[in-house]
Amino acid sequence: MPKLASYNGKVDSIENIKVSPMSRAFLFSDSVYEVISFYKKKFIDFETHLDRLKHSLNETKISCSIEECKTEIVKLLNESKFEDGYIYYQVSRGVDSIRSHFAEESDCERFGFIEEFSFFNQSPLKVMLVDDIRWQRCDIKSTSLLGNVLQMNDAKSVGCNEILMHKNGELTEGGASNIFFVKNKTIFTPELSPNILPGITRHQVIKIIKDKKLNFEEGSYSIDDLKEASSIWFTSTTKGILGVEEIVNLETKINTECELLEICKNAFVKRYFS
Ligand SMILES: Cc1ncc(COP(=O)(O)O)c(C=O)c1O
Repeated sequence: MPKLASYNGKVDSIENIKVSPMSRAFLFSDSVYEVISFYKKKFIDFETHLDRLKHSLNETKISCSIEECKTEIVKLLNESKFEDGYIYYQVSRGVDSIRSHFAEESDCERFGFIEEFSFFNQSPLKVMLVDDIRWQRCDIKSTSLLGNVLQMNDAKSVGCNEILMHKNGELTEGGASNIFFVKNKTIFTPELSPNILPGITRHQVIKIIKDKKLNFEEGSYSIDDLKEASSIWFTSTTKGILGVEEIVNLETKINTECELLEICKNAFVKRYFS
């Protein structure tokens, strides 16, 4: 079945959508995006995703009406037959007549597509610890993901399905997820900074941890903390909360059966997927 997509508000089969090669998204990756999940035809934390999109648009000075984005995302869901899945939605600075770093005044360009997806029964992750080679504004959900792509492809070539990044030994996040780990019965996660994306799932998991009054700390953590961890989790819109079974290039003490992970996973499924 052809994929359903939306381009500047017009919903069509993805094959029928024509995008200019002069799009600044194509030439410069001058665009920001969101991935929003839905379950039983209902968005999960839609407004929080829209707030983050607004943050990315503001920080990049891309001028676009968030209400227009909202209407287009809702329309895509309503016109699709899918019950469970996610919508990818990006906004670029627009289409220029010449390729120049200096953008012309133009309307923003909006593109999205919808995918069917099952959020359950995902396998534990095998990850590689890598240098974080990205830019200094990872709090913006930019489509410029070359740093992630290069490291993730290296990891894939040795059988991994995620990476765990560090900047000079300080843990940042996964290639497409945030990280949590457990040490001495306390759950830890790197604090928000320009070096990590403020993940919506990270936020949801922290709410659960606080509601359940589990021991929790946000701060700055090192590779040595990871070596001592009894459990490591990755969180994202499509992964939910997923445990790590192995870090291929680091000796750890991880045990995939973690009581705290189970408590958080069960509460997460109950809150968002029932
Ligand atoms: C680099 C990065 N960090 C974290 C996340 C998790 O964010 P969210 O939970 O909002 O999906 C993502 C998701 O794509 C990501 O790309």
